[in-house]
Amino acid sequence: MPYETYKLMHVVGLLLLFLGMGGQLLGAGSERGQAPKATAVLHAVGLLAMLVGGFGMMARLGVQWPWPGWLITKLGVWLTIGALPVGVRRQLIPHHLAWLVAAVLGGFAAWLAISKPF
Ligand code: HEM
Repeated sequence: MPYETYKLMHVVGLLLLFLGMGGQLLGAGSERGQAPKATAVLHAVGLLAMLVGGFGMMARLGVQWPWPGWLITKLGVWLTIGALPVGVRRQLIPHHLAWLVAAVLGGFAAWLAISKPF
């Protein structure tokens, strides 16, 4: 598959991830304290599409081990954002703070991809 297709998969995955996470955080803050199952599915499918798209782009760009700092940091952000709904459910992080953490981490990862500062 060409680089552009992997990039589209990566960006669509990002949209699904944040759609699902928004629903999860909204559910966590609701009276029921639970989100519809569909939001967890969106979150998981988004995470997976981002990963497949990301590794596909790495292959097309010829990125080899040791990976550059910006990429390793992005993987750390991806893991943290992936675990955020679980952290909220287990009350490790207040749900109102999780919104801010998700937005800041997402913006930071996009900046890393665009600027590749290290
Ligand atoms: C939540 C975490 C992430 C966000 C918000 C994110 C966001 C982005 C964005 C917006 C771009 C396009 C940048 C551009 O147009 O130049 C991009 C590119 C890229 N991302 Fe991610 N990404 C994330 C996680 C990952 C992960 C986990 C991987 C690796 C498996 C990855 C690998 C890449 C690669 C290789 C590129 C292409 C860079 C280039 O063309 O120069 N990203 N990412």
